[in-house]
Amino acid sequence: MQPILEVRNLTKVFHRGSLLARDRIVAVDSVSFAMQRGEVFTLAGESGCGKTTTARMILGFEQPTSGEIIYEKNQERWHPKIWFSQRIQAVFQNPFETFNPLRKVEGYLFETVRNYGLARSRAEAVELINAKLEAVGLNYGEVEGRYPSEFSGGQLQRISIARSLLVDPALLIADEPVSMVDASIRMSIVNLFRRLRDELNMGILYITHDLATAYYLGGQIAVMFRGNIMEMGPAQEVLINPRHPYTQLLRESIPEADPDRKWQGRISIAETEQEEYLRTGCKFAGRCPQVMDICKKQVPDLVDVEGVQVKCHLYAEQKSVREEVS
Ligand SMILES: Nc1ncnc2c1ncn2[C@@H]1O[C@H](COP(=O)(O)OP(=O)(O)OP(=O)(O)O)[C@@H](O)[C@H]1O
Ligand SMILES: [Mg+2]
Repeated sequence: MQPILEVRNLTKVFHRGSLLARDRIVAVDSVSFAMQRGEVFTLAGESGCGKTTTARMILGFEQPTSGEIIYEKNQERWHPKIWFSQRIQAVFQNPFETFNPLRKVEGYLFETVRNYGLARSRAEAVELINAKLEAVGLNYGEVEGRYPSEFSGGQLQRISIARSLLVDPALLIADEPVSMVDASIRMSIVNLFRRLRDELNMGILYITHDLATAYYLGGQIAVMFRGNIMEMGPAQEVLINPRHPYTQLLRESIPEADPDRKWQGRISIAETEQEEYLRTGCKFAGRCPQVMDICKKQVPDLVDVEGVQVKCHLYAEQKSVREEVS
């Protein structure tokens, strides 16, 4: 099977602050992964680990500092420009920001139909829009003539997904699509992603803090920390049986009672963000309960542990994934 998307050693360096006191932040640090059509690939990790920056580079909103992004390998018929606009679509965190409150929601849907020349008449446009709204559990009658404020966040997020379906994308990038939606309807949106994957064979790059929805969606997961993929493999295996001390900590810190509470505050922060970025060894060494001397000096290799890739010196005796590939 050909990957629908592959990134190789993708890196983004930002500089912050004044010219004299500039911080150098490697927001994405040599990240490599591949995803297939009809597969969910989750990027998880606490705030600031580089998930959105990765997505923005894939979407072409941000220029990589180095590395490669390969879209639908060997599909020459797709010019990169067409790929960006038609084969890849994105849904963002806050549906209220996607829609102007003074504009009727249907206007956005008709606009997309017009921009891509998807219909020859208004009747045809309505038919197409209705079909896509039905795919997300709504219909045109419910949307017609209404403004964003007349919908709930969950409904608006569905409409935003319906809009992205108009062009029949091969890959949907969903950056924290449920974090601003009521917990009670969060699962219905996650179920919608499952259906899009199964029924339309879409690839979904799902970005989240929420390990419970990542587990439920299955597929593959990459757990990021300070721009690095710390652990990557089948989502259910990684989350049930985490190998990396960071994934273990992340999983333990999911608040059971209150799913809306952000869990990242519970991880003890031993170092400042900048200290972590400047670390020469493992970026997680300052917080790791199992830290060893070598962790502070040397960046661990990504090694294969029973089909899961782990970037941790605890598994150093395992075969390096790099060696295996070359
Ligand atoms: N345009 C920018 N200029 C400077 N630094 C940036 C820029 N965009 C992101 N960063 C920094 O890069 C790092 C990664 O940010 P990013 O938004 O990718 O994280 P994230 O994993 O999406 O976090 P969150 O879960 O909060 O959305 C952070 O330290 C952030 O402050
Ligand atoms: Mg983000």
